[in-house]
Amino acid sequence: MNAPSHIQPLVTAGAAPDPVFAAAAHADPLDHAHLRADFARQGAFLYLDRFLSPELTSQLAACALALVGKVNRNYLPRHKQGGSISRHTIDSLAPSIAQLYRSQALIALLEEVCGETLLLCPDQDPHAYALYYYTRPGDHIGWHYDTSYYDGRRYTVLLGVIDNSSCRLDYVLHTRETDKPHEPGSVQIPPGGLVFFDGDKLRHRITALGEHEMRVSLTFEYVTDAGMRPWRRFISNMKDAVAYFGFRQLIRHRKANT
Ligand SMILES: [Fe+2]
Repeated sequence: MNAPSHIQPLVTAGAAPDPVFAAAAHADPLDHAHLRADFARQGAFLYLDRFLSPELTSQLAACALALVGKVNRNYLPRHKQGGSISRHTIDSLAPSIAQLYRSQALIALLEEVCGETLLLCPDQDPHAYALYYYTRPGDHIGWHYDTSYYDGRRYTVLLGVIDNSSCRLDYVLHTRETDKPHEPGSVQIPPGGLVFFDGDKLRHRITALGEHEMRVSLTFEYVTDAGMRPWRRFISNMKDAVAYFGFRQLIRHRKANT
């Protein structure tokens, strides 16, 4: 299906072939070394308040607003409340976001920062790239790790898209390391800002949305080994259906692949 005409493509004809190149090119080799050192020092965590270009950021915001009607709302008492749009819906309605996920310049930069070869998530993973919407007062997610069900490590890129909110990403570094003291932190991620982390190591939460506020973030997931044991796949699917994208999405995508 082609994207509806109101969803602007992130890359226009004649533009640079890689949409994130301009942002990645900001950092010279010395900066890359600093980014990698910061990432390692913070136990596989990096925050940059400016990463995407303003143009790309506003195109992402326009995409996010155009997709509001497709948001799947979810509510887990005392843990999370909010909305999300999976990679399957993005593939249908905003494929330029999928193009950004596959950006070679972005992946090369992330690999340099984390020091590992990164792979795209398999086609059936609804979290590979997804939009998360905080639109109603109280929308939040409580303290958690982004547990990987893959055989290898899974790294998360969180990009700020829209932020007219008081929401903060609260986190604690080094909770899985025995030789370092825990280090709490808190950031409000502006549109165009980036957080890059290993979800199994970072304890984090998003604080509750206030009245008349709105926040949208975009996440990309990359793995070091795309294998997943069948029982882990089952748990992962159930968690995604209940907590994020709904059973309809899971069943529809399964039918499409059988
Ligand atoms: Fe998370």
